[in-house]
Parts: sequence; C-alpha cells; structure tokens
Amino acid sequence: MEPIIELNEVSKVFKNKMAVDQVSFSIQKGEIVAILGPNGAGKTTTMMMMLGLLEPTKGSVRVFGKDPKEKSVREKIGALLQEVSVIDALKVREVIHLFRSYYPQPLSFEELVAFTGFTKDELQKRANKLSGGQKRRLGFALAMAGSPDVLFFDEPTVGMDVTSRKLFWNTVTELKDRGKTILFTTHYLQEADDIGERVILFHEGKIISDGTPKSIKARLLTQVVSFTPIHTLNMQEIRNIPHVTDVYEKDGRLYALTDNTDMVLAALFKRNLPIQNIEIERGRLEDAFEQLVEKREAM
Ligand SMILES: Nc1ncnc2c1ncn2[C@@H]1O[C@H](COP(=O)(O)OP(=O)(O)OP(=O)(O)O)[C@@H](O)[C@H]1O
Ligand SMILES: [Mg+2]
Repeated sequence: MEPIIELNEVSKVFKNKMAVDQVSFSIQKGEIVAILGPNGAGKTTTMMMMLGLLEPTKGSVRVFGKDPKEKSVREKIGALLQEVSVIDALKVREVIHLFRSYYPQPLSFEELVAFTGFTKDELQKRANKLSGGQKRRLGFALAMAGSPDVLFFDEPTVGMDVTSRKLFWNTVTELKDRGKTILFTTHYLQEADDIGERVILFHEGKIISDGTPKSIKARLLTQVVSFTPIHTLNMQEIRNIPHVTDVYEKDGRLYALTDNTDMVLAALFKRNLPIQNIEIERGRLEDAFEQLVEKREAM
C-alpha cells in the first residue's frame, strides 16, 4: 500500500541551527500519529515541511506521492497550526464562509459550526475578540473546511478548557473512525498515550523512538524494587544482581532500579538476603519521559 505521507532523510537547517536532522518515516491511510517531544525538538518544523510551508534543506517529503505544495494535495489536507492568525476584522461566521469558499467540496456551514461548539452569539463576534481557547476551536473548524482526508494539528489543545479538550478529542476519534489520517504534536506523553496509536518521539531534531505508546512506555519506564534490610547489607551485592541498573538508599530503605522486577525478586529470594517489606513500584510516565530526554543529553 502506498503511504499517504513519506519523509526520506529530511533535514532542515536555519542559519547554523539544525532544527530537523535526517528524519525518515511514513504514514499510512487511517493512522493517528502523535509527534511527541520537548520545546525546540523540531515538531513544528517537521509539520511545516509536510504541509509544504517550509522547504527541506535536504531529503524529500511526499504527500499522496506528490510535492505537498501542489494544489491537488493542498485541497486534501487541513491544518491547525501552532500560531493561528485568523483574519481579525471578520466575524466568526464570515471567516467560516470565507474558508469554505477556498475548497471545491467544502463541508456545510452547519457542520463546521458544530466543530467549534459556538453559540449564535459567538458566531457574531469578531475573530480577534475570541479567547485563546475559542480561537483554537475556530482554527479546528477552519482546518475541517475542505473536508480533508489528512489532518495536521500542531499542539491543538493548548489553551482549551477541559470541556473543549474533551469535545476536541472525541471529534478527532470520530474523524479517525471515518478513515481520516491524523497527525498531531504534543508535549505530553499522556496525551499521546490516550489518543495516539503510534507515537513518534522527537528530541533535538531527531527521531529517538517510533512505536506504539505501549512499546515506548515499556522502554521508558524504570521500575523499582525496594525493601528494608533487617541488618546491614552490602550494597554491592545488590548492585551485582543482573538487571539491577542502580541502587540507592533513602530513609532506611534500599531502592533497586531495574527493567525486570521478576528477575530481581527471584535473585533476592535465591540469595536469601536479610530483607523485609518488599515493594514494587512502576515509574510515572512523565518522569520516564524526562529521564529519556535527560539520558540523551548525557550521552
Ligand atoms: N524560522 C526559524 N529560524 C531559526 N530557527 C528556527 C526557526 N524555526 C524554528 N527554529 C529553531 O528550530 C528548532 C526546532 O523548532 P520547532 O519550532 O520545530 O520546535 P518544536 O518541537 O515545535 O517546539 P515547541 O514544542 O516549542 O513548539 C528550535 O531550536 C528553533 O529555535
Ligand atoms: Mg512547535
């Protein structure tokens, strides 16, 4: 099957800053993909190249097998960018009508209004009088104007309240069920985990991981076996247990970090060590994400 989006060794250099560094991936029809990464990781730059709004310094970007700048490609994609600048002087309803007029087969005005969740009064407001969250909701509706097959959302939920956020993700899930291909960027592993079937993790312009949220978490999450020694223990003996990556002491408890708690428990019992109150903890998702990013920085 022909991928809908294909990036091949794509790099983008701004002056002397390598914003995106030899990135390759492809996206199939109907996939929903989270592009995850900290500030400055290259998420927006990558998205702008997929939209044909930035030219790669090296490598190739194909959307529907073509240059993303081609009109036939543009008509099939919708985007909500990080910085939405709607035409401020117009009323909300006029902006929606204007965007519909750009496309050969737009969604109906009513359908687009439903995406915003706006009241009649809000439709009469000038676009520049909307709140930050309302602007995001309008931006989302405008992205849908041409009834696109592929949707790009750059940090879509920033500034949205809990209700709008829920409405947004419910709508995205429905769009996915209707066969749309969806890419979104986020800083939050949790958001990627909730929605994305696939997470591409960016750091300093490079892809450091590409897989299901589950596979990324399995790689990321450090687990801990902790216990209290009944009498003094040789820490080195714990360090020597296979799969123990680090050991530290806190408030009289010993903590053994590991990627395999089963093996560590088995080893502890086998060695018949003088320990009690054994506990197993899994790391928090956000901690794990930070760990991974820091680990890369230390390399
Ligand atoms: N037009 C530009 N000129 C110079 N440098 C740029 C430009 N756009 C982006 N950069 C740099 O490229 C790097 C990647 O930026 P990018 O906006 O793609 O990151 P991001 O992952 O979207 O970050 P954020 O989470 O903050 O939105 C950053 O170091 C940024 O400063
Ligand atoms: Mg960005």
